[in-house]
Parts: sequence; C-alpha cells; structure tokens
Amino acid sequence: MSRAPVHIVGCGGHAKVIAAMIEGGTRYEVASFVDRDARAEATFLDRPVIGENAFLAAGSGEAVVVGLGEWLRRKDAVARLRAAGWTDFPAVIDPSAVVAADVQVGEGAVLMPGTVVNPGTEIGAFCVLNTGAVLDHDCSMADGSALAPGVTVGGGCRIGAGAYLGIGASLAHGCSVGNGAVLGGGGFLMQDAGPGEFWAGVPATFVRKRAADETVL
Ligand SMILES: CC(C)(COP(=O)(O)OP(=O)(O)OC[C@H]1O[C@@H](n2cnc3c(N)ncnc32)[C@H](O)[C@@H]1OP(=O)(O)O)[C@@H](O)C(=O)NCCC(=O)NCCS
Repeated sequence: MSRAPVHIVGCGGHAKVIAAMIEGGTRYEVASFVDRDARAEATFLDRPVIGENAFLAAGSGEAVVVGLGEWLRRKDAVARLRAAGWTDFPAVIDPSAVVAADVQVGEGAVLMPGTVVNPGTEIGAFCVLNTGAVLDHDCSMADGSALAPGVTVGGGCRIGAGAYLGIGASLAHGCSVGNGAVLGGGGFLMQDAGPGEFWAGVPATFVRKRAADETVL
C-alpha cells in the first residue's frame, strides 16, 4: 500500500527528527518541507523546500506536521495554516514510543523516540514529548505544552497549555505547572508552579515571571 504524503513545516533539527520518525513508519512519506525563507530550488533531506506563502496558497487536503520546537512559533504556524484551510494535522508517534492503550493523543502532537506514556494520561493538541521523555499515569498535558529530552513527570501531574519543562527536568508526582509556566533544564519541582512562572534548580525555586511573548527552547 502506498504511503500518504505529509508536509513538514520547519527545516531545523526538530523537523529533521520528525522526518526520520515518519520515514521509519508505514503511514506517511515526507513530500516537502515548508520554510518562511525558502530559496528557489532549495532542498532539505533531499526533499523540496516550499516557501510558506506559496504553500499556504496551494491549499490541500494533505497532512501537515508543524515541526517547530518552540510553542509560540508552532502556535502561530498552526493559526496561519488553519486560516488558509489546512485541516489535517496528524499526531506523529515514533514506533519506539511506549504508549498505554487508553492514552488520548491530540492532533499534531509529536512523541519522539523512546518516550513512555503510562495509562490514564491525556496529551493535548500540538504537544511535544521529546526524546526519552517519561510521562507517568493519570497526567494531563494541555495544548502546546512540551517536555524536552529526558524529562520525567510523576503520576497525576497537570501541565498547563504552552508550559515547557527543560531538558532533564523532573516533576514530582501530583504537582501542577500552570499555563505557560517553565521548569528550567535539570530542575526538580516538588510543588505547584503558577501560570507563567519560571522555576529552576534542585529543588526548584521560583526565578521570575515569563513575559507573554517570551519564546523558550
Ligand atoms: C528555561 C531556560 C531557557 C531559561 O534560561 P534563561 O532565560 O537563560 O534564564 P534566566 O536568564 O532568566 O536566568 C535567571 C537566573 O536563573 C538561572 N537559571 C536559568 N536556567 C537555570 C536552570 N535550568 N537551572 C538552574 N538555574 C538556572 C540563571 O543562571 C540566572 O541566575 P542568576 O540570576 O543568579 O544569574 C533554561 O533554564 C533552560 O531550561 N534551558 C534548556 C532548554 C532546553 O531544554 N532545550 C532543549 C531543546 S531540545
């Protein structure tokens, strides 16, 4: 059976990993990459790179994965795609991910190699679970939230929309991080973090408020 075409927005390292995940599966094949600053006849990983304006104008029923690691950029790209009539945003789950049967995964979410998601957990739209992230039982990740590589989340945790847990960070069981909150790489958070708060360290302590338009990667 032939594989369906999928387009990846972005030409960076995050997009590269997603392309490898897709090519390692059986459902889709990467047809093109989309970049805002595409040069004529550019290619990435031997696929054509299409300028975003041309891509948006083309309109299509084909599938798109937004391969931008940073949530605010990802969110803006999704909004532009939706406005132009693109509607098919499949979740991409690497074949090596271990995902319990009852786990709900939202549209456009990306579960990278080696991720583990235990029962009773919900993953919202356009979330990212980066390489080797572990999300234990009965957790929720709201739309656009992201776990960097090697993050560990204990059972019963709530992760707010657009929140970001940096590389190697850990969240103790039962804790919540609010919308847009950030836990710095390597931190161990043992209490709740409020919306838009940046916490870091072991144990993590409050550092500062995050600006609403502040990108984090
Ligand atoms: C979230 C993050 C980007 C914030 O970095 P930042 O904007 O440079 O942080 P700030 O400038 O606000 O730092 C404020 C203070 O917190 C400290 N700090 C920042 N991040 C820290 C961390 N992860 N752990 C401990 N302390 C940290 C800074 O040293 C600084 O201390 P000082 O005031 O004594 O000098 C960073 O902590 C982080 O997690 N980086 C990793 C991102 C990642 O996972 N990337 C992987 C992509 S695949």
